[in-house]
Amino acid sequence: MDKKEIQNLVAQMTLEEKAGLLSGLDFWHTKPVERLDIPATMVSDGPHGLRKQDQEADHLGINDSIKAVCFPAASATAASFDPEMMEKMGEALGEACQHENLSVLLGPAVNIKRSPLCGRNFEYFSEDPYLTGVMATALIRGIQSKNVGTSIKHFALNNQEHRRMSSSSDCDERTIREIYFPAFEMAVKEAQPWTVMCSYNRINGVYASENPWLLTDVLRKEWGFEGYVMSDWGAVSDRVAGVAAGLDLEMPASGGVNDRKIVEAVQAGRLDEKAVDLCCERILNIIYRFVENAKPETPWDKEAQHRMAADVAAECMVLLKNEGDILPLSREDEIAFIGEFAEKPRFQGGGSSHINCFRTTGAVEAAKAQGLKVTYSRGYSVEADDAPADMIAEAVAAAKKAKAAVVFAGLPDAYESEGYDRTHMRMPESQNRLIEAVAEANSNTVVVLHNGSPVEMPWIGKVKAVLETYLGGQAVGLAQVRVLFGDVNPSGHLPESFPIKLEDNPSYLFYGGDPQGTEYREGIFVGYRYYDKKKMEVLFPFGYGLSYTTFAYSNLRLSADAIRDTDTLTATVTVKNTGKRAGKAVVQLYVGDMEGFVNAIRPVRELKAFRKVALEPGESREVSFTLGKRAFAHWNTRIHDWWVETGDFSIEVGDSSACLPLKATVKVESTVALPKNFDMNSIYMDILADPRGQEIFGSFIRKMTADFSSEQESVSEAASEAVTEEMNMAMLNYMPIRGAISFGGGLQEEQIREMLRKINEE
Ligand code: BGC
Repeated sequence: MDKKEIQNLVAQMTLEEKAGLLSGLDFWHTKPVERLDIPATMVSDGPHGLRKQDQEADHLGINDSIKAVCFPAASATAASFDPEMMEKMGEALGEACQHENLSVLLGPAVNIKRSPLCGRNFEYFSEDPYLTGVMATALIRGIQSKNVGTSIKHFALNNQEHRRMSSSSDCDERTIREIYFPAFEMAVKEAQPWTVMCSYNRINGVYASENPWLLTDVLRKEWGFEGYVMSDWGAVSDRVAGVAAGLDLEMPASGGVNDRKIVEAVQAGRLDEKAVDLCCERILNIIYRFVENAKPETPWDKEAQHRMAADVAAECMVLLKNEGDILPLSREDEIAFIGEFAEKPRFQGGGSSHINCFRTTGAVEAAKAQGLKVTYSRGYSVEADDAPADMIAEAVAAAKKAKAAVVFAGLPDAYESEGYDRTHMRMPESQNRLIEAVAEANSNTVVVLHNGSPVEMPWIGKVKAVLETYLGGQAVGLAQVRVLFGDVNPSGHLPESFPIKLEDNPSYLFYGGDPQGTEYREGIFVGYRYYDKKKMEVLFPFGYGLSYTTFAYSNLRLSADAIRDTDTLTATVTVKNTGKRAGKAVVQLYVGDMEGFVNAIRPVRELKAFRKVALEPGESREVSFTLGKRAFAHWNTRIHDWWVETGDFSIEVGDSSACLPLKATVKVESTVALPKNFDMNSIYMDILADPRGQEIFGSFIRKMTADFSSEQESVSEAASEAVTEEMNMAMLNYMPIRGAISFGGGLQEEQIREMLRKINEE
């Protein structure tokens, strides 16, 4: 149906029918209008599998949904740094949705991992907005290529579970634009998700579900979003305000209560019926886009998707430590697999994204199927969160007999879930004790981790290797065995910093907040942006990941030494596989404003481009990146827009935020002048930094400072020793121009005002 036809359809609807269309029929369906043959469509969680509920519906994953395939969660897939793979995973999900007649898959979830404590971090990609944006955009493209919608969520600033349905995320404009919006912005501009899901929380006091700035000014007018906005489940506080703000669909059903409120508000003249019409048009547009392209005959080959889930998981695993190249393990050796997660892996998180898997494969099963000489001992009990002495003793005995011991550890389900936050960053004490005991019994101890967010590793110095597998989906065991035994060379890189301890995290003092809200006081300094600026040690830095081979980076070339902010810059680099195995490098490019202190305090560096490159031993490749204005700009609150401050920028390339062997400099010149608003309180330094200010006030201010210095000197010798000329100059830098009246210089107030006017009018 085209726009005209949809408008005609809306014109035929009664006010009651229109208001009805703006909320769900039940938990998962939009409302049909039988009189006009408008069908109901079904939406479903998401995002790393299908959680289509057949029977009693709920949104917390308690009731069973259909048997489906659970792919790795976003915390894992982000570590792949591989948008192409992500797009393919999206295609597979889209096909499954077509098969199941699902119009929209509720994801991806792109909230920034502000603190390791957020219970839902496992569902989120990264602490970095650019990486999050690229990965989410790819997933959306993949799913939507099958004519199934997505619902990028949770818009916006839903970075904690604590009090998530009422808390206000209080954050400054620049931080919102630079950290919390870009993933949504990129996805909307580059992939047009069919729908956006607004978050539960308030933003600076206003609920996301009734926030016109968020849902209309930014999302639609600035970014050009064309789909419909739905509420998170139960996120509506004032439905009428929501309609006016641009919240099209309330989910789930409101039992007719809010539909009636919409009707009454229109009848009472408190709500423009045109706003209701517009919501209907947007919803119908997506309903028909799906219905007209529905392909229920699409096959859903779950076995093939299970294999794909294993391939994806293997691409995501991050090798954090590999002392003495203990990994990969030899297929000939006897290896002790220890820990309940080896048999029953934790591969997904709790809550609305919980998939009812048609099959799961743990590492023990996968290893046995390949005939590997693997023993298994339980080591700890996930349920009871303890490690009885006999379990540890059994594990230690197995470790002693084996060539190497692999402890499968991590966070139990109860430790991280939707709905509440973690209270600390530790693994269960039982597991920490087990790892220490095993490492003592066998010096070749490897730890395989299952978690959605960083954990403290008190035993890091005692084990030889650590493989971070995040929450790797239902086939995680297959992937773990492939990586452990070298069928796959690990190529994942950390999508977040691992702090040494929780207290190091920049949000630590403010996270969670009080009953009213949480203040994002660390501002733009989230994750590595903070650790780099503070020159702090971390356990593992953002972007970090080892391989069974080695890579060398060389020959960084820029297309220009100087550009204007309207130009693009190409950076080219050579990456070579210098080891003996085929492997994949993740080439990362970071940009840093080398002198950006005048208008904005900036991070040392920010990820602005990356590429995953497969290389045979000895092979080298050139990789080119194109950087536009946004790579250099910050959000300027004077013009409420992206702005580049003229100056030098560093371009650094390497394989993590902490290992960037190549560096070049480019000068970027701004083409946008900031509006000037010099007044009597403007200080000398700022006036002189402006060319026109220099022209108009320069000679006068220079004379004044000279007079001021000689006056000081004439006071006494002691005074002139105490305050040198440089000190005088430095102090005068901060003097407001109004000081010229009291401190001499021969200018009258009116003259100064006139001079200021001349600078400002330019
Ligand atoms: C979650 C959403 C989810 C929805 C439907 C909410 O509790 O926050 O992410 O899509 O439920 O299950």
